[in-house]
Amino acid sequence: MKDRKIFCLNNIAKIGTDGFRSGYTLIDSIDEAAGVLVRSADMKEMSFPAGLRAIARAGAGVNNIPLDRCAEEGIVVFNTPGANANSVKELVLCGMFLASRDIAGGINWVRENADDENIAKTTEKAKKAFAGTELKGKTLGVIGLGAIGVLVANAAISLGMKVYGFDPYLSVNSAWNLSPMVIHAEKIEEVYAASDYITIHVPATASTKGMISAEAIAQMKNGVVLLNFARDTLVDEKALASALEAGMVKRYVSDFPTPASAHMKNAIVIPHLGASTEEAEDNCAVMAVKQLQDYLDNGNIRNS
Ligand code: MLT
Repeated sequence: MKDRKIFCLNNIAKIGTDGFRSGYTLIDSIDEAAGVLVRSADMKEMSFPAGLRAIARAGAGVNNIPLDRCAEEGIVVFNTPGANANSVKELVLCGMFLASRDIAGGINWVRENADDENIAKTTEKAKKAFAGTELKGKTLGVIGLGAIGVLVANAAISLGMKVYGFDPYLSVNSAWNLSPMVIHAEKIEEVYAASDYITIHVPATASTKGMISAEAIAQMKNGVVLLNFARDTLVDEKALASALEAGMVKRYVSDFPTPASAHMKNAIVIPHLGASTEEAEDNCAVMAVKQLQDYLDNGNIRNS
């Protein structure tokens, strides 16, 4: 078999890079690569060698890859749909809990008051200051019912939430896996009007850019909690900042730190940790390696 040279950008989990069959060599530069494995590194400005045949992204989003250029140059691009979905789902749930119970405020309070010998007494004050609300009985809107959206919607049902789901491109697989208790919204406006919490799970494309706009927020319930574990570009940050200031949006929980969102009132922003678990990294790396091998060896293009 011809030697296949693979270039690996980022630290793809060890199991992935170890997972190559014989006949494959990991090389240090893209120059002679037939395939590239990548996680989040931005490839848009990179030039590609003539022999490059495929790029496998260990993750769902492909916004770090120049898709048009790849299409022109005949380079096949893979992603790993669903491979990190459970990890992202768990962090979205965590985001809902962080928004409904002021866990971060409580942790900071204990740190600040740790040396107070009366801490046990002052705790009574903290209990009032950091009181929250239950998720049970609240309504969650899930926009985008791909692998992650479906898992989030189903988990929210098990928490006792009423769940609306919206996806104009619902796949058979998603429809099959979605809990029958999730209410299927025909229009996104139904989700906006009904939800106490809204979580977005759509890809970053030209048509989804800024979809959480001033106009969209105006159709949402006053005091809605917004969760963004999809991509920062989906949200119009100016509109969001004003809505947070005015209390129209009670909390914004985001997995995408941007200079603006990091300082917004009532925003909880974390550094893109959704897929950062041992399991998700392994699953994505293994799927990406298998996709590359199957394509380079057999010409098969697989979406799993
Ligand atoms: C994704 O698109 O699935 C994430 O960006 C994965 C990652 O954090 O690498």
